[in-house]
Amino acid sequence: MANGRLAGKTAVVTGAAAGIGKSIAATFAREGALVVVADSDEQAGAAVAAEVSGTGFCRFVAVDIAVPDSVAALIETTVAHYGKLDIIVANAGIGGRSLGDGPVDQCTVEAWDRVMEVNLRGTFLTCKYALPALLECKGCILTISSVLGMVGTQGLFDTHAYATSKAGIIGLTRAIAAHYAQQGVRANVIAPGLVDTRMAKRTKSDPAIAEQVAFWQPIGGLGQPRDVADAALFLCSDEAKFITGAVLPVDGGWTVQ
Ligand SMILES: NC(=O)c1ccc[n+]([C@@H]2O[C@H](COP(=O)([O-])OP(=O)(O)OC[C@H]3O[C@@H](n4cnc5c(N)ncnc54)[C@H](O)[C@@H]3O)[C@@H](O)[C@H]2O)c1
Repeated sequence: MANGRLAGKTAVVTGAAAGIGKSIAATFAREGALVVVADSDEQAGAAVAAEVSGTGFCRFVAVDIAVPDSVAALIETTVAHYGKLDIIVANAGIGGRSLGDGPVDQCTVEAWDRVMEVNLRGTFLTCKYALPALLECKGCILTISSVLGMVGTQGLFDTHAYATSKAGIIGLTRAIAAHYAQQGVRANVIAPGLVDTRMAKRTKSDPAIAEQVAFWQPIGGLGQPRDVADAALFLCSDEAKFITGAVLPVDGGWTVQ
């Protein structure tokens, strides 16, 4: 029997082939959970599962969170393999800028639809198909929003489809938290600031953005995936058993200003 703060738990982390999700998967496995790395990137996902298996138990399952049957199959496979599902982390998401996202008068309709399809509808599908299994073992949901789902900005981070999708995730999660609390399922949200992953690579290459980041995140620099993973561990552990519907910014002080 594994030791750790998630010993005996089974967890699915979507978008775990890279960045924040990869760090959450590694942290959960280290803390004793049986982890499913779920991602649309099969090569990277399988590599992460192999790497994480060095410290804990982990397997890869391919999923496209935008496709209902694919998400349903992910949950079915997990329950068939591990017998139950205690934790779902709906982390997978995309940035919209390269698709044509921007301030609302410039955002293309195609970008709006695709960002909503993956980020908001994908999070809905992940929660929807996980809930029957979560209800059986009084499990918990963690979704990943963004500071951009909480506050507006002027300038470099103005991607309004993305911001709207991330605000929707907060509404969805709090609705779930209220509705399922009496049935023993908790649901919380983390709202990261700028975190050092592929999604934030523009930040590193553009000095104008680096200057803005110093303003927006007064603690200094970019967050690290581990900063989000440590908060995720707390919210998904029994230490947070009286916490539901919380929106936890992990943002270096962005939203206190
Ligand atoms: N990095 C940041 O600064 C930041 C800030 C706030 C919020 N977030 C959010 O954190 C989450 C993780 O972001 P990240 O920075 O680690 O990004 P990332 O691009 O490094 O990783 C995202 C992962 O999601 C997977 N993915 C994308 N679309 C998918 C789909 N349809 N089905 C399954 N998997 C899919 C990708 O293959 C990738 O492995 C996202 O929801 C993102 O919006 C990131």
